[in-house]
Amino acid sequence: MTNPLRSPGDRRLPRVPDPCALVVFGVTGDLAKKKLIPAVYDLANRGLLPAGFVLLGFARRDWAHGEFEELAKEAARKGARTEFRESTWQRLSDSIKFLSGSFDDDAAFDSLAAMLSDLHASHGTQGNAAFYLSIPPAAFPTVLKQMQRTGMADSHPGGDSDAGWRRVVVEKPFGHDLPSSRELNDLVDDVFTPQDVFRIDHYLGKETVQNLLALRFANTLFEPIWNSHHVDSVQITMAEDVGIGSRAGFYEETGAARDVLQNHLLQLLALTAMEEPVGFDAESLRTEKRKVLGALKPPKDLALHAVRGQYDQGWLAGERVQAYRAEEGVAPDSRTETFAAVRLEVETRRWAGVPFYLRTGKRLPRRVTEIAVVFHKAPHLPFSKTDTEELGANQLVVRVQPDEGVTLRFGSKVPGTTMEVRDVAMDFQYGEAFTEASPEAYERLLLDVLLGDASLFPRNEEVEQSWRVIDPIEQFWAEGGEPELYRAGEWGPRGADAMLARDGRTWRRP
Ligand code: BG6
Repeated sequence: MTNPLRSPGDRRLPRVPDPCALVVFGVTGDLAKKKLIPAVYDLANRGLLPAGFVLLGFARRDWAHGEFEELAKEAARKGARTEFRESTWQRLSDSIKFLSGSFDDDAAFDSLAAMLSDLHASHGTQGNAAFYLSIPPAAFPTVLKQMQRTGMADSHPGGDSDAGWRRVVVEKPFGHDLPSSRELNDLVDDVFTPQDVFRIDHYLGKETVQNLLALRFANTLFEPIWNSHHVDSVQITMAEDVGIGSRAGFYEETGAARDVLQNHLLQLLALTAMEEPVGFDAESLRTEKRKVLGALKPPKDLALHAVRGQYDQGWLAGERVQAYRAEEGVAPDSRTETFAAVRLEVETRRWAGVPFYLRTGKRLPRRVTEIAVVFHKAPHLPFSKTDTEELGANQLVVRVQPDEGVTLRFGSKVPGTTMEVRDVAMDFQYGEAFTEASPEAYERLLLDVLLGDASLFPRNEEVEQSWRVIDPIEQFWAEGGEPELYRAGEWGPRGADAMLARDGRTWRRP
């Protein structure tokens, strides 16, 4: 995988995309403000946008161009990773356009199509365009059909027509179950050619997630022990201290399993468990991930191996926080889960019998994402029992965020006259080891879209395989019962601890 984001000491030439327009549908939404606009600014600041670049926002608000520019500037100022420079902004602001319209407004889409042709002449975009669907999934069909009707999805790279390449970026969730994701896919495939469809799972854009590939396949140390002979279990945690904020509408329909487990956590599992790809191109990487997801079976006993919870009121960082059911926009008897944990197995020779425990939740004690590979205990300990009381299992922990790095935990002799052994940690911290700053995930992924590099984007088959794992769990939950309540600020419901206790294990406390 070639990282086009050049750092100070990097002698490789950065790759700059072709001239193009980036059209963002739903540009006044949270994602655009917090992630997409700052990412565009960061790319501009690093000199990674082409000369003929235009950011075209499309949204319902009846805004004049100046109002959108103000919003974009504020978003860049607040969210950019790189320093905010007035000179960069001045250059970028000349390339910012806004078009007001609703998704069922034919005239607005006709104007958009005309605008894309004009930009070819006025800004030298060469007719290339990427469309970012930062909109509720329910609006996908309308927008896609509008693009089809106006012909703006048709690419003619290198042709005489006004259209160069045309790509579409689809935000997760990709459907809400297998049938709906197939429907969505058929729809997208009807409008765009499959290689022009980029499904975003922003976890794959995180530096630490890509480092999993370096850790496993650039070193000799870990691969020989990366299998059931040495690994006891794997724990993947994505915990957040925040609640659902203003996203009740989305969250009530989605819940933790569809929001995070189906995509981010299963992708992390795939990268952890996959075989070495023959290369880091899109095809090779996706092929290996697909094999893992295909070997994943839904839990055999759903009552024992899938746990859901919902946060109750509690305390977090010294503040009292309300229960999920008391959040604005949430039904007082909502059964939506804000915590989900599952036990899965990858049915391959390498991983036979190794449980993969996945958990995610809101209003947990802190924001942390990590992958912990827990090794078997030594088969024999030539020490007295009391000397090894504080010795746990060896662990390799990939700290995805926020304290990015890798920890190796192993036993070490406690200084003194006895042979007491205690767990210690060896740490690699990104902040200490590198002077280069990590780009934000969306910056990396947006650049890849514009470059046409699909390595870090899940393919449709992966999405469908993930739903095959999640659907039976969702059905089981829908058939009855309520999610178990957990107090905000605690590590999820008791059931999650019980699930591991039945296997003689405990969750790590990250
Ligand atoms: C999103 C989910 O995909 O990821 C959110 O929809 C979640 O619910 C977010 O808060 C977390 O992303 P990150 O990068 O902050 O871990």
